Amino acid sequence: MIDTARGFVDRRIYSDEEIHALEMERIFARCWLFLGHESQIPNPGDFVTSRMGEDAIILCRDSNGKVHAFLNTCRHRGNAVCLFDRGNTRTFTCSYHGWSYDLEGKLTGVPFLTEAYYDQLDKNAWGLIEVPGLQTYGGLIFGSWDPASWTLEEYLGEMRWYLDNMLVAEDMGGLVPYTSRQGYTVHCNWKIIAENNVGDHYHTLHTHGSLYKLGLRDRKTGFEGGQSPNGPFEISLAPGHGIGGVETGPGGYERELKAAEALGPEAVDWVRERYQRVLKRLKGVRAKPYSYSHANVFPNFPFFGRGGALNGRTLFILCPVGPLQTDVWQWFYVERDAPEIIKQKSWENLGREGHLGSGLFAQDDAENFERVTESTRTTVARRYPFHLGMAIDVEGKWPGQETWDVEGLPGVIGPRFTEHSQRRFYQFWAQLVLDDQRIGHGD
Ligand code: FES
Ligand SMILES: [Fe+2]
Repeated sequence: MIDTARGFVDRRIYSDEEIHALEMERIFARCWLFLGHESQIPNPGDFVTSRMGEDAIILCRDSNGKVHAFLNTCRHRGNAVCLFDRGNTRTFTCSYHGWSYDLEGKLTGVPFLTEAYYDQLDKNAWGLIEVPGLQTYGGLIFGSWDPASWTLEEYLGEMRWYLDNMLVAEDMGGLVPYTSRQGYTVHCNWKIIAENNVGDHYHTLHTHGSLYKLGLRDRKTGFEGGQSPNGPFEISLAPGHGIGGVETGPGGYERELKAAEALGPEAVDWVRERYQRVLKRLKGVRAKPYSYSHANVFPNFPFFGRGGALNGRTLFILCPVGPLQTDVWQWFYVERDAPEIIKQKSWENLGREGHLGSGLFAQDDAENFERVTESTRTTVARRYPFHLGMAIDVEGKWPGQETWDVEGLPGVIGPRFTEHSQRRFYQFWAQLVLDDQRIGHGD
């Protein structure tokens, strides 16, 4: 199904029900999945709902401040016990027969316990099902049904460096939310979105061509201008992650400094000060990555946002609903120390052209993703594999790579046009789903 030597991918993996069921079991019930950010539940009693694959999840903070993740299903006969996206509560009470659970998942209330059960129900045995692996990384909350197979650190692998330096940015005060959850539904397989995020810079100039025609972006300058020794680079990361559109050197900073002038002196000062903090953090790293465009933590946690001073960060969860539908959930974050004018402008910018329901980028992408998925379902079209073999013979020895300013960056660094991150994504996918293997200790 996955021919890694040639980069061919069988179309059936996007629409076949049996493959989908295997993915739910071997990926989503096994990998470390992004569930939310600590700032979404700052106080005791706060909760948000999330998903792990197709399973509904409640993420909450108990009265002692500890974070828990529970299956959002009543132990009596299965109804959801939390019907809201977010809120603050002391109990989750099922709307069917009224069983209620506290913030630690304990079954605390059973109507007519004596009259109906003759006090024979062991309440201790019927609490909410808790996700056994729950860990926070720089404010990002990850959960796993199978934490014994691999630690979160092993699982994140080479992506950790990029989370530290391009996303979480503790030295900018960390990330704070600027909006609550946004969402939209795309009639496509979840992998079509994930593979795009993991390393597809190739589609940008074409799929999103309207932005250039409208003059919202200039395809000839800076980040979008072409391959240079400073990028943009597509970086494939073990075991199955990727980050792309990475730009090194001072170019990104200089462009942002100029752009900040339109926002006033406070913005200019922040861009300058922030760059000093970046340089301090990257003291031991020869290449100075300044920004990125897209990334995906396997399997379903993309993050976007350039990573520079003037753009926020969009965090996503791709929620599969059967093989042919994906609910896209997203949150917009900004760096805590940034001035308000930058936070506000970056949000406006995202709404206009970014990966938001209203943004041009998301709409352009979704149309293609739906048509691609449809082609994997129909009888004859699905006989023909997808081609993800771009420049496979020069992978790792790309012409001109000796001039690239990338020293010290983890991962396999490739040029802007390559599909090596997608190939690694599918290699890892095949290892999990088809070969039933995992990395880490225990196997
Ligand atoms: S299904 Fe929840 S109380 Fe019966
Ligand atoms: Fe796109």
